[in-house]
Amino acid sequence: MSAAEGYRVAVVGATGQVGGVMLRLLRERAFPVREVVPFASERSAGRTIDYGDADLTIAPLTDETIQGFDLALFSAGSGVSGEWAPRFADAGATVVDNSSRWRMEEDVPLVVAEVNPEALDGHRGIVANPNCTTMQTVVALKPILDAAGIERLVMSSYQAVSGTGQKAVDELHSQAEAVIEARELPEPRVYPHQIAFNVLPQVETFKDGDDYTTEERKMMAETRKILGASDLAVSATCARVPVYTGHSESVNVQTREPLSPEECRELLSGAPGVIVLDNPADGIYPLAIDAAGRDEVFVGRIRRDPSHERCLNLWVVGDNLRKGAATNAVQLAELLVQRNLLRSVTV
Ligand SMILES: NC(=O)c1ccc[n+]([C@@H]2O[C@H](COP(=O)([O-])OP(=O)(O)OC[C@H]3O[C@@H](n4cnc5c(N)ncnc54)[C@H](OP(=O)(O)O)[C@@H]3O)[C@@H](O)[C@H]2O)c1
Repeated sequence: MSAAEGYRVAVVGATGQVGGVMLRLLRERAFPVREVVPFASERSAGRTIDYGDADLTIAPLTDETIQGFDLALFSAGSGVSGEWAPRFADAGATVVDNSSRWRMEEDVPLVVAEVNPEALDGHRGIVANPNCTTMQTVVALKPILDAAGIERLVMSSYQAVSGTGQKAVDELHSQAEAVIEARELPEPRVYPHQIAFNVLPQVETFKDGDDYTTEERKMMAETRKILGASDLAVSATCARVPVYTGHSESVNVQTREPLSPEECRELLSGAPGVIVLDNPADGIYPLAIDAAGRDEVFVGRIRRDPSHERCLNLWVVGDNLRKGAATNAVQLAELLVQRNLLRSVTV
């Protein structure tokens, strides 16, 4: 199949937040499709979903329905990816998976379009899209790594509720309404505590007695894998904040070679996928509400850490549903086409 004829594309998790953006981006970026088939759970099968001029019927995942795809974009959680991504790959598709299920497997490339596109070469049918928080950080860090090396990172995230899925967005909304109307709050269902007008120093879960959360572990491990820096010292703290969309992060970077804030600003100004917004005296710095709906990663508050001569502090903001998930997935699909890597060797 060639780009001119268009590809047959499956979007798994098409009724979800990320899946919805994926469908929109396939159209917006004019990805060469011959046919798009949306997949979701049994609950949604048979319903229709808007795809520009057409309504598409949602398919269930079965051995029959997954046949004959060139590309499958997955965004339906780790369980679904664990079971169905290898089946799509076995049936001949190349899978771009948005869940955490395959990211740390040795033979699965973990790829950010602006950072390590060469990692796609030699994939075995499944390619992983990184965690949203990691994604935006490495886009900002790669130019610094190339110019001055990185010895150590200390990252703190302020993550939006849409990162947890539609149910979390609804939970913030209903709690906020109840607080404003001075009504009794509904019991939290998605988060362990009230999220409206609160900050939770817990993103995902504490597993097996670990005092870091699974999100923090992902951020540390995935950053090392994408940057190809297994010896990178990295520490992460992830917090959930009552923001609908757009993750913000404070990143402390210790470089190997000296790098001034001015040099860093100049480097990042020319970097692909990055927009520098850094005039704090005039109130100009990245904001989650401005980043929402955008594909770029925004960086500001670039300044010297007064406690260390080779450390800089940055404020990094990105749309978790777009660059943090759907945009990168579609960019990877585009790179797979450009590099003639669709439907290569299957797992
Ligand atoms: N949200 C983010 O910022 C973000 C960022 C990076 C990565 N991710 C990852 O992307 C995935 C989806 O996130 P989301 O925020 O879009 O979640 P979401 O809004 O809750 O959507 C989940 C999607 O998965 C489908 N699904 C659930 N169970 C299924 C099953 N058994 N078989 C087939 N489809 C099933 C749902 O279909 P129904 O409508 O039929 O239930 C829905 O389409 C997760 O793996 C998440 O970790 C999310």
